[in-house]
Amino acid sequence: MTATTRPTKPIEGQKPGTSGLRKKTRVFMQPGYLENFVQAIFDAIGGGAGKTFVLGGDGRFFGAEAAQIILKMAAANGAARVIVGRDALLSTPAASHLIRLRGTDGGFIMSASHNPGGPDEDFGLKFNTTNGGPAPEAVTDAIFAASGKLSQIHISDAADIDLSRLGEVDLDGMVVEVVDPVADYAALMESLFDFAALKSLFAGGFRMRYDAMNAITGPYATEIIQNRLEAPAGTVVNATPLPDFGGLHPDPNPTWAKALMDEMMGPDAPDFGAASDGDGDRNMVVGRGIYVSPSDSLAVLAANAHLAPGYSAGLKGIARSMPTSTAADRVAEALGIPAYETPTGWKFFGNLLDAGRATICGEESFGTGSDHVREKDGLWAVLLWLNVLAARGQAVAEIMGDHWAKFGRNYYSRHDYEALPVADAQAITDRLRGKLSSLPGTKVAGMEIAMADDFAYADPVDGSVSSNQGLRVVFTDGSRLVVRLSGTGTEGATLRLYLERYADRGFDQDVQQALDPLIQAAEALAGIREISGRTGPDVIT
Ligand code: G6P
Ligand code: ZN
Repeated sequence: MTATTRPTKPIEGQKPGTSGLRKKTRVFMQPGYLENFVQAIFDAIGGGAGKTFVLGGDGRFFGAEAAQIILKMAAANGAARVIVGRDALLSTPAASHLIRLRGTDGGFIMSASHNPGGPDEDFGLKFNTTNGGPAPEAVTDAIFAASGKLSQIHISDAADIDLSRLGEVDLDGMVVEVVDPVADYAALMESLFDFAALKSLFAGGFRMRYDAMNAITGPYATEIIQNRLEAPAGTVVNATPLPDFGGLHPDPNPTWAKALMDEMMGPDAPDFGAASDGDGDRNMVVGRGIYVSPSDSLAVLAANAHLAPGYSAGLKGIARSMPTSTAADRVAEALGIPAYETPTGWKFFGNLLDAGRATICGEESFGTGSDHVREKDGLWAVLLWLNVLAARGQAVAEIMGDHWAKFGRNYYSRHDYEALPVADAQAITDRLRGKLSSLPGTKVAGMEIAMADDFAYADPVDGSVSSNQGLRVVFTDGSRLVVRLSGTGTEGATLRLYLERYADRGFDQDVQQALDPLIQAAEALAGIREISGRTGPDVIT
């Protein structure tokens, strides 16, 4: 037994956000920084003695070193076993699955999601609990509190473990079990989707481009789409996880996945395009010549999920974050199942999924998932789309056209005003908040307001209430505008304006044009451009 205890002092600012602790890589690389945070996790969860954990990450810079530190600390904190993906790799949804499959006491995920990686970029560490989902606030608060009280850390001084070899090794009495990061996840996907139908789809000449963005889904997509479904080599591109993601920004949206967008809008576009982010929980889907917004994707997947074997019994409910378009609500209504509207952040779906109230969830921020794990799951969404395409035998554009004809179209866009002075962002939200109660019944930009409020969510499972989750204005025709401040920005304040306009005909309009009345209404009500002095948004998705 070579476990040792070292003295330490609290380090300020180790407060986990929505997705764990995310900092510049060099901050994490400071001597003792990671060690302190990991010890705070062990202290907050009542120690590691006799426990089993999962460990893996998206392959970004510093992940391999961090894995060795976490293993040695788990051993010295008395853990019985750590199940780690080969080379310390695991996508976030695969880690969530392993935690659930093996019934572990939780897991450590090393990632900063869609943020760039490298020595001058971002690193992160997140602890997920036994249900496979991100630690709830009570746990992250306890971690932060523990980080402020540290006086010692426990870490073995054993040699590094070779994580490139599958199998079990001893580390000071703890078993390190190195597993294939893809195998269990691929088996789960095979249990949910009709792989035979997908194989025939590709055998019939269906062409797809999957951009793994030099991030973690490369090995997963290669194994599932090219090896098991026998799509031709080259279907998956940027398939090797690189420590700096090849300098790319691994965020699957039309801006950062521009090469894919260009190909899908070009003359020789494949039938279907998709991309995932750094840690594999986000997704973007594109058809030939047609971009599918995440809100529409959620609605279409919910309406067609029964075509996949894993969902043939139907859905229990559909959940979406408040700013996500209400297109999914129309599907829930038609299916006669409940629709839930939660605050932004995947963690709010956890209770609904655990309680069996919702089967499918989604967010406008390129996240879609189901009760198969407790994280959003990029590749899962892509495979469900493929299953729907195979079962319906239609192109993406036809499926979208049919969907809108049946449910109407919720034109949707998000306008981001980034790095605003905090005072400006506050003045904008204050102005709108101050007016909310007087708005119902009045008209703006020619549209009548039906309802306006500052969104608060009462969790139907545990009764907890989350207030101040975004300002929303709903019009009598179902159109909406929502203003909220980002909870993930790092510089100043990022103000997000979410725009949605419902149309029961005329489905081929330009999205920004269709939303113009809402854009005018938002400016009249909140004065975003007037107060900030900006001429327009920095990013439009
Ligand atoms: C992360 C979470 C998502 C959430 C998003 C919101 O990606 O995992 O669940 O939707 O942040 O970010 P925002 O910047 O809008 O607060
Ligand atoms: Zn992510």
